[in-house]
Amino acid sequence: MRRMMMLAAMAAWAGWAGAAAVENDFLLQTKSTTMAFHKSGDTWLLVHYGAKIEKSGDANALAWNGWVGNSFFGHRKPATYSVYGSDNDRSTMNKFGGLAVIHADGVTSTELVAQGAKTVEDKAGVTHLVLELKDSVYPFFVTQHFRAVEASDVVETWVEIRHDEPAAVKLVRMDSVALVFPLLAKEYHLLSLTGQWASENQLTEAPVALGQTVSMTSRSGVRSAFGNNPAFMLSVGPQASETAGRVIGGALAWSGAWTISIQHDFIDALAINVGPDTGNGPYTLDAGKTLATPKTVLTYSAEGKGQISRNLHRWARDHQLRDGHMLRPVLLNSWEGAYFDFNEKTLTDMMDGVKELGGEMFVVDDGWFAKGKYARDDDKRGLGDWVLNDAKLPKGLGALADEAKTRGLKFGIWVEPEMANTTSELVDKHPEWVLREKTRPLRQGRGGTQVVLDMTNPALRDNIYGQMDALITSIPGLAYIKWDANADFMNAGSTYLAADRQPNLWFDYTAGLYDLLGRLHAKYPDIMMKACSSGAAHMDYGFLHFADEFWTSDDTDARQRVFIQWGAGHFYPACAMAAHVTVSPNEQTHRSTPLKFRFDVAMSGRLGFELHPKNMTPEDLAFAKKAVVDYKRLRPVIQQGDLYRLVSPWDHSYASLMYVSDDKSKAVVFLYGLNRGIMSDFPAPLPLQGLDLGKRYRVTEINKEKRDHSRVSGQTLGGAALLGMGLPVKLVGDYDSAVFELVAE
Ligand code: GLA
Repeated sequence: MRRMMMLAAMAAWAGWAGAAAVENDFLLQTKSTTMAFHKSGDTWLLVHYGAKIEKSGDANALAWNGWVGNSFFGHRKPATYSVYGSDNDRSTMNKFGGLAVIHADGVTSTELVAQGAKTVEDKAGVTHLVLELKDSVYPFFVTQHFRAVEASDVVETWVEIRHDEPAAVKLVRMDSVALVFPLLAKEYHLLSLTGQWASENQLTEAPVALGQTVSMTSRSGVRSAFGNNPAFMLSVGPQASETAGRVIGGALAWSGAWTISIQHDFIDALAINVGPDTGNGPYTLDAGKTLATPKTVLTYSAEGKGQISRNLHRWARDHQLRDGHMLRPVLLNSWEGAYFDFNEKTLTDMMDGVKELGGEMFVVDDGWFAKGKYARDDDKRGLGDWVLNDAKLPKGLGALADEAKTRGLKFGIWVEPEMANTTSELVDKHPEWVLREKTRPLRQGRGGTQVVLDMTNPALRDNIYGQMDALITSIPGLAYIKWDANADFMNAGSTYLAADRQPNLWFDYTAGLYDLLGRLHAKYPDIMMKACSSGAAHMDYGFLHFADEFWTSDDTDARQRVFIQWGAGHFYPACAMAAHVTVSPNEQTHRSTPLKFRFDVAMSGRLGFELHPKNMTPEDLAFAKKAVVDYKRLRPVIQQGDLYRLVSPWDHSYASLMYVSDDKSKAVVFLYGLNRGIMSDFPAPLPLQGLDLGKRYRVTEINKEKRDHSRVSGQTLGGAALLGMGLPVKLVGDYDSAVFELVAE
């Protein structure tokens, strides 16, 4: 009977290759975690997320399997997708739902009932669970996806929403994740990243007190990872350390406006909501159309925050980043070395410089495009006109790419396709493509003339696609695009969207952007892309599906970068973290730091340069050339290894982190002194992690100038001893630093 039911259910999903029906219980397993599902009546509940469990019966028995709450305060069911209106025991309603719908007839509640569940075929090492849900009254459907990635202990989750109601519905909220957990712990602590331009990724962490809902939101619809980044770590119980404590981590793969909220409700229920922000009004969804929310990735660690980072990094390299396993080239980007002030000779001189340094790619930043009165010689004009400024570069970009090629370098270029200046041919011809509110004066950003283009409009997207396509084909062998976006929604209105659809801008802008990126990606799968938005404002896993890496900050001061990169590394991997050596004093902070310190900091990410090499002294050049050789040898460990944070710059006047290769045969340890007196805050032996207890490692100092920074450099020592006793190190004065290579013998 059971088998017949299963066969019938499978036949119903014949459209899905390899679909298998799921009945009342399901354990979604990864290497060390379980998400346990249980169908109670007509509702799918998530009864457990965390440590690995082998039997559904155990999860059901141990879970708080009733409704959460009590009849006095009201109940909430731990549904897999908590929606506004859905009641629990039919005695109360839920006003906190992650999906809030105004149906075509004006009814504001939704009640989702289980229709069917199945697993569908996916990549090897991935289990993909699909839950079909339908409103109990309306032809309103939600398909909920959970994709469990075995190796990295990550679950990707999102929903698809569609309906056949007689008219459009309004989506007031449309989260990717709307989970309610019963009593898990008596305290919760939320860690996230905050900051602003040139000070991104500052760590912030605080308890979510009983009775509080803590929410984080993006400030904007474009630079949506500024201010706050759409990612979090939540300690379940006492505040987790790097190596101990239960933690749920999450990140929303979305480059538009977003919200994340954590609710610590009565009787200690925990609710997690993650999703796109619909701005100041609901999203209008027409009948027959499907809206897929961006995916949220969740991960769990019983061993502290460090493992959360390693899980996300591994998942990103394996499943999300473009070419996550490709070793990233050492490049020189022209911005800080030339700004707008260059000609062909400046650029070919820079190429000579990066070649001599041992770099592998040269990238022309802003300033190469637009013609005549709109020529981009400063930031006041030209955005939108993606044609060569032939007065500045008469031989053309193809010739520059050839110059790079003759030097054995790859060639890349900067663009800012989401934006225009009102001083451009594009806006002269198509003022309707600019985001604006029809009755208000146009607010303009950088240079007094910058505006955002209307990515909801297919005609605009076609134009930009056409311009990008023509540009790319005009540069044979183009290897890299730096995609920038230097403004927010200054005027949140669209002439393309109807009056009653204006709030759709907040979602449809980003959906349109992804459509454009997807088309370019499909046609040019081998061109690398950097996600940039005034620094790290496109540092999100939505954009990073199309990009290989992100610009970590316009602040390139190595001292500030210790903190900025420390924060970014909590969620985003080193292979994607562009870190460039720049001049001293630094252009942004005017702080002076030694060249060695600048290298030691940049080498913990994707090393590059942002200076004019011709201005380097022979001694600096010699140091740099050696460092690049060493970086190339170490980069498989740095870019593809596991990150361990050893000493936080937020706790001491020095910081340390290390990377370990998968097979634990190699490791690289970084140590950074910050503002220190000669003997202040003397480093304790570095508490190394991740090494193989049974292996013996040769310790060699890299980027060494005169002094040894460890009395054991040059020695071969046991993994157990290094882990157990730590690596003894010494720092002297401000901005002293060290890098150690550990190789198993
Ligand atoms: C932004 C980027 C910089 C640079 C400039 C060019 O600020 O973050 O790296 O590309 O734009 O205008």
